[in-house]
Amino acid sequence: MAKLLVLYGTTEGQTRKIVSFAADKLTVAKHQVRLIDAADAPDTLTPEPFDGVIVAASLHIHNYQSAVRHWVSEHAAGLNKRPGAFVSVSLAAAAEDEEERKEALACAESFFEKTGWHPKAVHNAAGALRYTKYDFFKTWIMKRIAKSQGGSTDTGHDTEYTDWTALELFVTDFAAAIDD
Ligand SMILES: Cc1cc2nc3c(=O)[nH]c(=O)nc-3n(C[C@H](O)[C@H](O)[C@H](O)COP(=O)(O)O)c2cc1C
Repeated sequence: MAKLLVLYGTTEGQTRKIVSFAADKLTVAKHQVRLIDAADAPDTLTPEPFDGVIVAASLHIHNYQSAVRHWVSEHAAGLNKRPGAFVSVSLAAAAEDEEERKEALACAESFFEKTGWHPKAVHNAAGALRYTKYDFFKTWIMKRIAKSQGGSTDTGHDTEYTDWTALELFVTDFAAAIDD
């Protein structure tokens, strides 16, 4: 049984849904999970009490949530001393074109360079298009991004692209490797 921290950032809620699902699966697999939104992380939160850390964040104009960036930068030394996994949530991960999918991984690489954290495992998770929740500006941006990546441009409907089975496999494999 591993004691895990799952820290995340979200803007429209899909990453919260992703980490809540992951935490449920890890709990069923008998791991102990502390789930925290980076925006609400207490100052006392450090990686040290945990056997492993999973960080999840979503891409918005090629950047992850600033609360996640700040926490990871501040704790990079402690994070590098224990098993770590990063879940990058984006629309690019859902693209049919391999080059587009690689774009999300390039953003993750740049995040690792800037923060100084080098997790041993990375999962490129597809997020969601929530047109019914976006304001005019976000709808306009997302329609353009979706068009270039082969996503839905039907602004009357939301579409979820997340592969839940792949996600479950990734987090449970990561936690099982800590126990080995
Ligand atoms: C304003 C905006 C900008 C976005 N920019 C990107 C981007 O640069 N690259 C990408 O792959 N996805 C982008 N996305 C898609 C999000 O990563 C995707 O919708 C994800 O599910 C959002 O996760 P969240 O709900 O946890 O914030 C963007 C979404 C919005 C609304």
